[in-house]
Amino acid sequence: MSHDAHTLSRFIMDEERRHPRATGGFSALLSQISLAAKVIHREVSRAGLVDILGLTGQENVQGEEVQKLDIFANETIVAMFETSGLLCAMASEEEEGIIPMPPDLPHGAYTLAFDPLDGSSNIDANVNIGTIFSIHRRLSASDTLATEHDFLQPGRQQVCAGYVLYGTSTMLVFSTGHGVHGFTLDPSIGEFLLSHRDLQMPAQGKIYSINEGNAAWWDEPIRTYIAHLKSDDSERGLPYKSRYIGSLVADFHRTLLYGGIFLYPGDRKAPEGKLRLLYEASPLAFLAQQAGGHASTGRRAILELEPEQLHQRVPLIIGSRDDVAEAESFLNRP
Ligand code: AHG
Ligand code: MN
Ligand code: MN
Repeated sequence: MSHDAHTLSRFIMDEERRHPRATGGFSALLSQISLAAKVIHREVSRAGLVDILGLTGQENVQGEEVQKLDIFANETIVAMFETSGLLCAMASEEEEGIIPMPPDLPHGAYTLAFDPLDGSSNIDANVNIGTIFSIHRRLSASDTLATEHDFLQPGRQQVCAGYVLYGTSTMLVFSTGHGVHGFTLDPSIGEFLLSHRDLQMPAQGKIYSINEGNAAWWDEPIRTYIAHLKSDDSERGLPYKSRYIGSLVADFHRTLLYGGIFLYPGDRKAPEGKLRLLYEASPLAFLAQQAGGHASTGRRAILELEPEQLHQRVPLIIGSRDDVAEAESFLNRP
């Protein structure tokens, strides 16, 4: 390992020196997240070997069949943070209500909302999957028990957001409001090493990402926009390439690095779309904004939405600034 290799812990220390306002709580939170990521990485890497593939036959709050890795990832993160003293409560895609901290253990000033395993329909096919997390400061007084209200904050108030991508390599990508930084796990030393400092999303890309299998239910404006991206107009850099992995974290990571646009819009079948605001759209919108991109419902900025429920769904259009602006112009035509 070269001497200037930045481990996650060293990077966090440097960040704290650069931004003294950020309390030490962040560093402990990020260290716990990186530990959970390493544990889940180990299980994901051997999923093909150990009989943890396939369905548990149970359903989660979304009514979706739950893969065993979903449960493992959920239990790992809950266990990591229950005794950390960093959080006042957690909210997981896999659990109906908020997850309170044990009453006999110290509580912290932050909330953690997370999607323990994103892209779970891809697990058996050995396609990239991920974990998404979103951290807010609690609203309720420190000597009270946290409530759901502590989680229903607009995304612009996040203090930290990020994801882990379990792919050809395992990466931790996050922002604490001072740029987006990517760390790649070196399994031989068990360290996340800084590999992408201050990631910036290209202002415009050449890739669009949407599940065309839903086209029958699309509203007219989205149909017109996608047809536009497919049209033969080389002067305007058209047609775009189509790429759709079906794991939000993987589709977003590609968009962050290469630029372009990812869309999971509302349609006649699901007017609010499929993706969840608190632990999918909001954290990725925070990263997109920090990387110079944008995220909207097609009409409103994701980071400005006032959440009303833990698991509420929201249409998501996210990616390069100019691409999202063009999509919005199609979706808001009178
Ligand atoms: P999760 O596995 O956490 O439920 O998330 C799956 C989501 C997201 O990862 C992806 O963008 C989307 O489902 C794909 O949905 P479709 O299969 O309907 O395209
Ligand atoms: Mn998900
Ligand atoms: Mn999930």
